[in-house]
Amino acid sequence: SALRASFATKAQKESRNQHQLQPQASYKVAVLGAAGGIGQPLALLIKMSPLVSDLHLYDIANVKGVAADISHCNTPSQVRDFTGASELGDCLKGVNVVVIPAGVPRKPGTTRDDLFNINAGIVRDLVSAVADNCPGAFIHIISNPVNSTVPIAAEILKQKGVYDPKKLFGVTTLDVVRANTFVAQRKNLKLIDVDVPVVGGHAGITILPLLSKTRPSASFTDEEIEELTVRIQNAGTEVVEAKAGAGSATLSMAYAAARFVESSLRALDGDGDVYECAYVQSDLTELPFFASRVKLGKKGVEALIPSDLQGLTEYEQKALEALKPELKSSIERGVAFAQKQT
Ligand code: NAI
Repeated sequence: SALRASFATKAQKESRNQHQLQPQASYKVAVLGAAGGIGQPLALLIKMSPLVSDLHLYDIANVKGVAADISHCNTPSQVRDFTGASELGDCLKGVNVVVIPAGVPRKPGTTRDDLFNINAGIVRDLVSAVADNCPGAFIHIISNPVNSTVPIAAEILKQKGVYDPKKLFGVTTLDVVRANTFVAQRKNLKLIDVDVPVVGGHAGITILPLLSKTRPSASFTDEEIEELTVRIQNAGTEVVEAKAGAGSATLSMAYAAARFVESSLRALDGDGDVYECAYVQSDLTELPFFASRVKLGKKGVEALIPSDLQGLTEYEQKALEALKPELKSSIERGVAFAQKQT
């Protein structure tokens, strides 16, 4: 573990280097929006990773203290802080994975789509800097509305001539984390084993948990399916309302995003068995972007996993058809925004 690695003696470390027994800390990760509600705990969790050699924290304000604080943890990565647009290029040079949780979160009564006007421009500008400084990096978009900000990012990367659809991800891991938790609770299953694929997008009814594909297999009554599906779709709003104006999910989101970063790093490191759900360019449906399970490899998405979408229940099939118009219009809104800029 990272903690053990940091306690190892120099001799132990050298012998480890020779024998390659432990993963080597060798990847650079940047967090853009690192002083925020998600950014701070996410930066801390990434600092725990034994695979990270450099952790670059960027924000428009308040990031110096966050970086100073986290840098005292005795885990391998070097932490550096970057403030404001003039330091963004340096933050991104040589980075392997860029995580973007920059932007405003929801308040009670707002939808993810309401965030579009502010967050679309933030994502456009940050991704444009990514294109200029680390075009080969994996890009993880957390800023909402993810259904639109990922298509915006794709358009910006295309305009810059560096779009690689295999390396652009909308982070939907929190939907999977929530689905796993709620299903395990409801069915009294061992949490560690439960895996529910969540497909579609990342807002309201576009979030479609495929409960029939739960592993280990579990059976649900119609009422349970309805109740769990709706709860998973509205789980973000549960948190927004409980926080009563102080923002949306930050801690569980940081946990989920850190899992997706770690999976990406394991894939970059050559692990051949890494699967996650993510919102990516896709040909699994007629929509150009769609969340599904994907296999991750050194070059990003190695394969989309179509099997989850085969043999759906009637409920799931209907929900899939019902989400398509909303997801389609969110994608088109993003594309139109990005194209209007040129
Ligand atoms: P927050 O307001 O606490 O933090 C946002 C941070 O972004 C602030 O530190 C702010 O200074 C920074 N920021 C603003 N403009 C920036 C720019 N141009 N460059 C760099 N940094 C900039 O918000 P929170 O709670 O951390 O949420 C961030 C985003 O994540 C929101 O859009 C929210 O909707 C989204 N989100 C996504 C989830 C998902 O599952 N994908 C789940 C929860 C939130």
